[in-house]
Amino acid sequence: MTSRILVLPGDGIGPEIVREAVKVLEVLQSTHGLDIQLEFGLVGGAAFEAKGQPLPAETMHQARAADAILLGAVGGPQWEALPIQLRPEQGLLGLRSGLELFANLRPARLFPQLVAASTLKPEVVSGLDLMLVRELTGGIYFGQPRGVRTLESGEREGINTLVYRESEVERICRVAFDIARLRQRRVCSVDKANVLECTEMWRQVAIKIGKEYPDVALSHMYVDNAAMQLVRAPRQFDVLVTTNMFGDILSDCAAMLTGSIGMLPSASLDAEGKGMYEPIHGSAPDIAGKNIANPLATILSVSMMLRYTLKRAELATILDNAVQRVLDKGKRTADIQSPGCLIVSTEAMGDAVVAELK
Ligand code: IPM
Ligand code: MG
Repeated sequence: MTSRILVLPGDGIGPEIVREAVKVLEVLQSTHGLDIQLEFGLVGGAAFEAKGQPLPAETMHQARAADAILLGAVGGPQWEALPIQLRPEQGLLGLRSGLELFANLRPARLFPQLVAASTLKPEVVSGLDLMLVRELTGGIYFGQPRGVRTLESGEREGINTLVYRESEVERICRVAFDIARLRQRRVCSVDKANVLECTEMWRQVAIKIGKEYPDVALSHMYVDNAAMQLVRAPRQFDVLVTTNMFGDILSDCAAMLTGSIGMLPSASLDAEGKGMYEPIHGSAPDIAGKNIANPLATILSVSMMLRYTLKRAELATILDNAVQRVLDKGKRTADIQSPGCLIVSTEAMGDAVVAELK
């Protein structure tokens, strides 16, 4: 059956990197029998400019009809002064919550070819391979009440609310445990149970779900310690499971261990395996339009799409290997350059991956 893929390039470097990922999808379609149909849509600042909204009803409609979504990035300085509900980021958050994409998988894997690109010592990071499972549709990102109000004294007060229902914690923990079963069978649940009641409950729920997975070892870590351990000894982790905001912060940190945030893909899945796939980096407005951004995180997001939604794991492996071979040949975008390597453009990097696939 033909899978419908909605492509949402977004803002900044989004269109350039997505263009390369689309080339990859098209070559898999023409030479590897991938049965897909591509459709394009607007999100973020691009949608605001065209339709006055970061997530137009039409985009949401397309997204609901699609089996998978490939997204570039959203945001840029020109939209920062807009009221929060019109900012590009709302496009992303609206897709995540509207489609109930509660499970965000953010693998941090260090390609052996890029050990020198990491800011950490090779002996600390080489062989790094962890999976961060971030809750994506709840927590402080969506909790009510929220906003800024003016008190009687005239002083303003800002409020956001960290709130989780047990069922929300249960389902994200199950995703983490299921993934751990395909890996090293270790889950570390991240919380701030020493201060925040909500995450104390999170820990209790993690323990309860852990009992369903006696073959998986469960540990717990406070988020501040987790941040430290990620830069101190990141290889101790197999699967990390976190709240929405803790995962946002820790995944940037985990990404940097691998040399460049330009290498890391992500999948955001609903309960049925429908997913939105995007690089974990942002729209990088400072380098937009220069043809120097790294498209590999987006291309590797296609690999996650093949694995998790399109159920073509063998093609995902073929694509991962193609990326490895390009790196083996010494091709690097500027963000992952190292001495003796050839610096290539966004487009040339995409072409190199496509050439390996042909
Ligand atoms: C991410 C991003 C988003 C987030 C922003 C762009 C809303 O930082 O996907 O990590 O905070 O979730
Ligand atoms: Mg983030």
